[in-house]
Amino acid sequence: MNVCVIGAGYVGLTTAAVLSDIGNHVICVDLDMKKVESLRKGSIPIFEPNLQEIVLKNKQRLSFTNDLGTALENAEMVIVAVGTPPLPDGSSNLSYLYSAVFSMMKYATSHKIIMIKSTVPPGTNEAIYQSLIDQGYNSNQFTLVSNPEFLREGSAVYDMLHPDRIVVGLHEENPAIIQKVKELYHGIHAPFIITNYSGAELIKYASNAFLATKISFINEMARICEMFGADITHIAEGIGSDARIGYSFLQAGIGYGGSCFPKDLQSLSFVAKEKNITPHILDATQKVNDTQMDFYVNKIMDVFPDLSSLKIAMLGIAFKADTDDIRESRAIEFIKKLNQLGCTVHAYDPKAQLPNELTVDNQQHPNLQDTLKDADITIVATGWKEFLTMDWMQAKQLMRGNTIVDARNCLDKDLLESYGFQYIGVGRG
Ligand code: UDX
Repeated sequence: MNVCVIGAGYVGLTTAAVLSDIGNHVICVDLDMKKVESLRKGSIPIFEPNLQEIVLKNKQRLSFTNDLGTALENAEMVIVAVGTPPLPDGSSNLSYLYSAVFSMMKYATSHKIIMIKSTVPPGTNEAIYQSLIDQGYNSNQFTLVSNPEFLREGSAVYDMLHPDRIVVGLHEENPAIIQKVKELYHGIHAPFIITNYSGAELIKYASNAFLATKISFINEMARICEMFGADITHIAEGIGSDARIGYSFLQAGIGYGGSCFPKDLQSLSFVAKEKNITPHILDATQKVNDTQMDFYVNKIMDVFPDLSSLKIAMLGIAFKADTDDIRESRAIEFIKKLNQLGCTVHAYDPKAQLPNELTVDNQQHPNLQDTLKDADITIVATGWKEFLTMDWMQAKQLMRGNTIVDARNCLDKDLLESYGFQYIGVGRG
């Protein structure tokens, strides 16, 4: 199928690359000419495993432009994957989405299937549909389809090729369009869930909210574990083995970050309140997440009441492993908090960079050794494989102190203690 993807962010780019890989002809449009130029040369602006390879491999079927008119010429389907960033009040900024849809319709000279991939609050697809009708467009000119994505950064290519489900939200029953969506995803095997626009939008929000709730739940349990000398990793294993609960998203730590969970929870909470629903669980999930950092900081301060003269090594800057994304990163929040307490932080991440505003009070090092040298406390804030498999005996020799803060509960506590480290995790007995 000939497809145009609007937006070359991590969702748009992964979607364009994988769709071309499974046989579609894809033109990806982005307004940022510098990004387009570098994509044309095969250089991708983010770190995402396998994405570069798949972009290079499919040069024949995948191209990049900033010219929407040209990109639309042969496109049967237009996939919109632009950002919907949060506004200060917690709602989603939908201006890029509206602008993409309406500029696209101005250029369209034939019927277009408009597929909305951007994450949008319930009611958005219906509102876009109505605005198009109000502007005089009709069903001979467009069919609007909601098709939310569930890609995790760090495994976006894999997730796109192996989805658990493909959700399709429609204005009304339309077997021909479902057939087209199946054609688009030819070769990708997953159950189709067909629903209306709000159904599709809410499946996306409810999935993220549920996963975030699992994280906050296990973090709250971790706090309780501490009071009773229980180990939260045993609790996670014990409850996870119940198939009704499952093992995933039960890793306690400093809480969730990233460009999705915090924003999507806020946005869902916002729309619920607009409809006079008090979202008790969503609010509690956010509250636990917002206070989890302090829980860690208090634990550190129980051991070191004055942190100001200590050298702190922070391993991990990204919001999680296998990405260079620092949006809503808990590691960054941790560094800010430590700076408020008078500390200078020495940070290292295999891919992510400290934001400029943090380079005044802190230092980023190019490798583990330089970061750990003379550190009093080492904090592991992101579960990169490099940290899980590092030589902790060597780390001990490099450090001045012997305290390890495991902010992701991802290290071997017993091993570290056997090396003479003081281990601080959350809920570890
Ligand atoms: C998430 C959803 O998983 C994905 O389906 C959706 O499309 C976008 O949002 P992502 O933000 O890339 O993906 O990361 P994810 O792997 O879900 O992790 C989110 C945050 O939760 C990270 O900060 C991670 O460290 C944290 N997390 C995850 C935990 O603290 N504990 C866990 O057990 C799992």
